[in-house]
Amino acid sequence: MNKYIINGGKRLCGSVEISGAKNAAVAILPATLLAEGPCVIENLPNISDVSRSLQILSHMGATVNYLNPSTVFVDTTNITSPSVPYEYAKHMRASYYFLGVLLARYKHADVAMPGGCDLGARPIDRHIKGFEELGCTVSIEPGGIIRASAQSLVGNHIFFDGVSVGATINVMLAAVKAEGVTVLENVAKEPHIVDLANFLNSMGADIRGAGTDVIKIHGVSSMHGTNYTIIPDQIEAGTFMAIAAATSGDIVIKNVIPKHLESITEKLLKIGAVVEEYDEAVRVYREGPLNKITLKTLPHPGFPTDMQPQMTTLLTVANGSSMVIEDIWDNRFKYATELCRMGANIKVDGKVAVVEGVPSLKGAPIRASDLRAGAALVIAGLMAEGVTEIEDIYHIERGYENFEEKLRSLGADIKKVSVCDKTVAGAL
Ligand code: UD1
Repeated sequence: MNKYIINGGKRLCGSVEISGAKNAAVAILPATLLAEGPCVIENLPNISDVSRSLQILSHMGATVNYLNPSTVFVDTTNITSPSVPYEYAKHMRASYYFLGVLLARYKHADVAMPGGCDLGARPIDRHIKGFEELGCTVSIEPGGIIRASAQSLVGNHIFFDGVSVGATINVMLAAVKAEGVTVLENVAKEPHIVDLANFLNSMGADIRGAGTDVIKIHGVSSMHGTNYTIIPDQIEAGTFMAIAAATSGDIVIKNVIPKHLESITEKLLKIGAVVEEYDEAVRVYREGPLNKITLKTLPHPGFPTDMQPQMTTLLTVANGSSMVIEDIWDNRFKYATELCRMGANIKVDGKVAVVEGVPSLKGAPIRASDLRAGAALVIAGLMAEGVTEIEDIYHIERGYENFEEKLRSLGADIKKVSVCDKTVAGAL
């Protein structure tokens, strides 16, 4: 077990390169099972959710070889064990994408219930409804195995009664080789949904409309291998944007798609940061005070829930009282307790947090409860006076490549130590 020790109060300046998108990678890697031939995936982030996706493919019998630190060769021709047992599924939510892919390839899938961040109830009824409307039978077997099977998959007109990123991806994966035409309505529009559709199309699929409310899929009988470069990570980029604003810093964030960052940029401008956009970079800096704002999370193109903890953390030291409304997840303010240990003044009532700005945060020993909460606590540690120790940073390593190295290169005083390590903060 490792923890971060951060000596806060430093301005972070310089430039940072954003890695490939986690949420695209964890959908694209399972989708390599649909190719009749090898795939080469570039700009793959070096994070534990990616290692776990690759472990699942290796467990199934795929050939997986890294060609360089961000490029992997995957050949799924000789699969011997097409199922995902609990020991692999329990670590990450996205393990359930193997359901859609195995259904498309074998018309049968056994995948253990997924793990992932604890953000409140995370039902999968919309995935199941979508599979059923393609002609599948879905059951939960003893041991928490989700079993889906079909004689044949047949295209259908499917209306989702609520927007779900995961259900959109899973049903799109299952439908890609279904007979006839599938129309998915009221779908999610996140950048990684478009990236997955582009990846599948580069393998010979026929998917149109990804990024809009309606996706139309003409089923194809076979798909081929491909070379594909994953888009940059919207949330990693947003996190570094928030870090620039939090530390009164000046950071050029490179390898981004500024369009994907618009909702984050808009809020940062209101908070008091300056954001300059370039073709594939944004520069964020702040000279004045932080202002209070109202923030509500929404499906894309609204403000992403995965940036909510980082933004709420910024607001702890803004002038005045801010309101944060979490409209996606039932329980995404657990980290507020940790921020309050650092001197923040946050009152949470269900899905609403009222953040009363305080002059400064003070370093404290705290614990990450999930991936983005962990990133938010790092921001708090960077802003705080004194030393902050953050435990359970394995959550952060699920989704941020070389986080502490990137922060150190910007001037942060951050160190990763083993919790058994006797290193003391004063030795930093
Ligand atoms: C994905 C992201 C996660 C992000 C979330 C919302 C990945 C791997 N994870 O999670 O980081 O926070 O999108 O942007 O891409 N719901 C149902 N029934 C379902 C499915 C979802 O009621 O069958 C509800 C959920 O409880 C939640 C909302 O729909 O309230 C959105 O969930 P969804 O978009 O599915 O999130 P994930 O795909 O799990």
